[in-house]
Amino acid sequence: MTQTYRILKPGSQNPESARQQFLRDVEQGLSQTPKSIPSQYFYDETGSKLFEQIMDLPEYYLTDAEYEILERNHRRLAELVNHSAFNLVELGAGDGRKTRVLLEHLHSEKIDFKYIPIDISEGAMTSLQEEVAACCSDLEMLGVVGEYFQGLNWVEKHVGGPSLVLFLGSNIGNFRPSKAKIFLRRLRQVLRPGDFVLMGFDLKKDTRRLNAAYNDKQGITARFNLNLLARINRELAGEFDLDNWEFYGWYNPLSGAVESSLLSRKRQCVRIGACGKVFEFDAWEAIHTEYSFKYSEAEIEKMATTAGFTVAEHYHAKNQTFVDSLWSIPL
Ligand SMILES: C[S@@+](CC[C@H](N)C(=O)[O-])C[C@H]1O[C@@H](n2cnc3c(N)ncnc32)[C@H](O)[C@@H]1O
Repeated sequence: MTQTYRILKPGSQNPESARQQFLRDVEQGLSQTPKSIPSQYFYDETGSKLFEQIMDLPEYYLTDAEYEILERNHRRLAELVNHSAFNLVELGAGDGRKTRVLLEHLHSEKIDFKYIPIDISEGAMTSLQEEVAACCSDLEMLGVVGEYFQGLNWVEKHVGGPSLVLFLGSNIGNFRPSKAKIFLRRLRQVLRPGDFVLMGFDLKKDTRRLNAAYNDKQGITARFNLNLLARINRELAGEFDLDNWEFYGWYNPLSGAVESSLLSRKRQCVRIGACGKVFEFDAWEAIHTEYSFKYSEAEIEKMATTAGFTVAEHYHAKNQTFVDSLWSIPL
């Protein structure tokens, strides 16, 4: 049996230019009102590990819900794509623990496919590769370390063929609706008739359940957010004192999102050595860190059709908390 796991870094930046990009984004984000830091910077090695712990939390129902969806529907998904060799492309794959259900089924049925996860976190990709090697010993995996479209363009250019694109875990919810619209239009443009997209959405629900999921008793979500400041300290010679900051993340029914931020516990000035600048924070001023938009089924269908997709099927979690929406590309 051939072992065919490869990790590729198309358009990879050298570590110094990646650090410069991080610095530019932090400098820009902390110079605007309200202040913000892009959520993609959560996922350094520490952040990716903390996110794995979040997925194990009893309050974080999203992972179990989507796992159950894939367990109940993996056969159906396999039937849809099993006409010719295809690519199982996964955007923001993380540790791929839910995808494993589908991978194991496709692999055991000897279905002809390549698994192509795309993730900006090299640490997450390395763990994923180990997981895949352990579960599906001769599966062809091409791991792409990069941003979503960097990866998709690489697949289009170097691999080709029909694809089932997974975008799980409600990652789409991290985009503001206007940005999600642009993202989905771009996604539509790189796909062809015959391709499918399986998109995970966290559904609108009792706000108490949502708030509990982002305010876990063990404080892991808080540590995950605070790691952004720790990362600035590590990589950009920042001088954030983490004791002067706290996590705040609550559902806003008017925006339809859990809005996460870090609050400055006092008036303070923080120097970031890499740019030689000092940033001022008022007492209880927020740095926005992440949106997690929640959707209704009607909103999901509108998003799909507006971007040029056809909704093929909806797979609901038994407890109705989450849906994986399968979209096709009209001829
Ligand atoms: C919330 S986790 C979800 C992981 C997985 N999809 C799941 O459902 O368990 C988000 C993942 O997307 C990756 N990610 C975030 N922004 C990205 C981007 N712009 N391009 C590629 N990957 C990204 C992160 O590194 C992380 O592994």
